Amino acid sequence: MSEIIVPFGDLKLDYSHNKAQVDAAIAEVLASGWFILGGKLEEFEQAFARYCGAEFAVGVGSGTEALHLALLSCGVEPGDEVITVANTCVPTLSAITFAGAYPVLVDIDPKSYTMDPTKIEERISPKTKCIMPVNIYGQCADMEPICEIARRHSLKVVEDCAQAHGAKYGGRHAGAIGHSGCYSFYPSKNLGAYGDAGMVVTSDPDMAEYIRKARNYGQEKRYYHSIKGFNSRLDEMQAAILLAKLPGLDANNNRRREIAARYNFALASVNGITCPMEMAGRHHVYHLYVLQVKGRDSFQEFLKSRNVGTMIHYPVPIHRQQSYSECANQAVYLPVTDELSGQIVSLPVFPEMTDDQVEHVIESVRMWAGE
Ligand SMILES: Cc1ncc(COP(=O)(O)O)c(C=O)c1O
Repeated sequence: MSEIIVPFGDLKLDYSHNKAQVDAAIAEVLASGWFILGGKLEEFEQAFARYCGAEFAVGVGSGTEALHLALLSCGVEPGDEVITVANTCVPTLSAITFAGAYPVLVDIDPKSYTMDPTKIEERISPKTKCIMPVNIYGQCADMEPICEIARRHSLKVVEDCAQAHGAKYGGRHAGAIGHSGCYSFYPSKNLGAYGDAGMVVTSDPDMAEYIRKARNYGQEKRYYHSIKGFNSRLDEMQAAILLAKLPGLDANNNRRREIAARYNFALASVNGITCPMEMAGRHHVYHLYVLQVKGRDSFQEFLKSRNVGTMIHYPVPIHRQQSYSECANQAVYLPVTDELSGQIVSLPVFPEMTDDQVEHVIESVRMWAGE
């Protein structure tokens, strides 16, 4: 058994690297006595909007709620259709179905793993309201053709940016390309809170205004409610933590990119393995480093025996989930998604990984391949 241990991720390390700023931020909120919808949230909203190059950012309770509220702000209603992908985390779909809409699934491009724009138009119907591309694993979807199709059919584009903090397409930040972009700050994300949190970024003042009210019971001013809403607020503690961590995001992403480059260089020619691709004009931030492997079970078992954590994102595509059985008949449109779901596996990639850990992962993969 080897000595080096490489967990899939380590949030204790994340905290210890940010301890001074985070502890100070938490202490400041506690001392202020103001915990919901205060100055820290406003500061973080402004800082994150500026970071993404969007006019507005509205903090909400989670990434799922960001997507849900963004769809409502586009006027999505029961009976409408929203086009998205099946190779994603289930909450992408939760947002669609909680808005009462039906998810129409299109296949992914086998190189980028993101929505294949050439497959969208055949799935547009008179009920389609929105296209929701997912900037998966840290790489933007092919936004230019997606937005062009949306323009031609008068559809809104809501980007799922839960895995794409800092990712860019043609120099523009994820979330600032479509009509809105929805972020999750789940603790393990590239920018993670120490609890649940989410954000919608948009340059459309009406969408921002709608979400600002809807996240707070539809309140216009205290006890006066102009629309129906519910409670989805990003609290002051999490906002202060995120504000303290935001300045470190680019450096963390650069470290992720460095690790990915090292993996790519060392593993590209290994038998039975296909490395992920950074597509031209896109800045990949490697929230996940996803390989295709022939013989995934033995691969994961071997790496486990060498103390290397791996995961699968995602083993069961949406149309094969029990909870989305109404989408099962869409399998015919999803051959690439189905094929890839049997082969993909994620290697550890997190900013605090040491060079020795990276080399241990590489050596382990090579040993598995008999090289
Ligand atoms: C692609 C994707 N969409 C949506 C979400 C939902 O975010 P949250 O867990 O903050 O609700 C996640 C994260 O878990 C995600 O990875």
